[in-house]
Amino acid sequence: MLSKNLIKVLSDQINAEYYSAYLYLSMSTWADKEGLKGTAKWLFAQAQEEMAHGTRIYQYVLERGESPTFGIIEKPMTSFLSIQDIFIKTLEHEQKVTKMINEIATVAMKENDHACYQFLMWFVNEQVEEEASASDILDKLKLIGDNKSMLLTLDNELGTRVFVNPFANLVN
Ligand code: FEO
Repeated sequence: MLSKNLIKVLSDQINAEYYSAYLYLSMSTWADKEGLKGTAKWLFAQAQEEMAHGTRIYQYVLERGESPTFGIIEKPMTSFLSIQDIFIKTLEHEQKVTKMINEIATVAMKENDHACYQFLMWFVNEQVEEEASASDILDKLKLIGDNKSMLLTLDNELGTRVFVNPFANLVN
């Protein structure tokens, strides 16, 4: 059993994670068309990860004997100015998601739902990594500046990312 409040905020988070996936797919498409194939691959892996996050929260609501509610997934932006713009927006987006996860954890804590609070701690820690990786890439982009050959090196590096479902052992 989950409180009505928690069902609502967890359902909103499922929606937000799927929106995140949509946003990163949109960014990946932009990068692909710009010839930044490695960046496109990194962003595609990011989109897959967001779907895994949304799916895990969905499964958790079911595990607690409840049904999530479903809403409209917002349309993501489709035009970007540059690779710098992509990662500035990525960092801003992840900071927003961190806030949302923290707010859900606060609700769980206020309602004395220790199991839900514990479940959310994985996401709290994940957000630290998500913000750090976007921030690291932004730092590298600042160093690279207008150097196209260094940008291609970074693009190759980003292309080595492989999506690994962190919940693979839990998916039925
Ligand atoms: Fe699911 Fe990027 O947070």
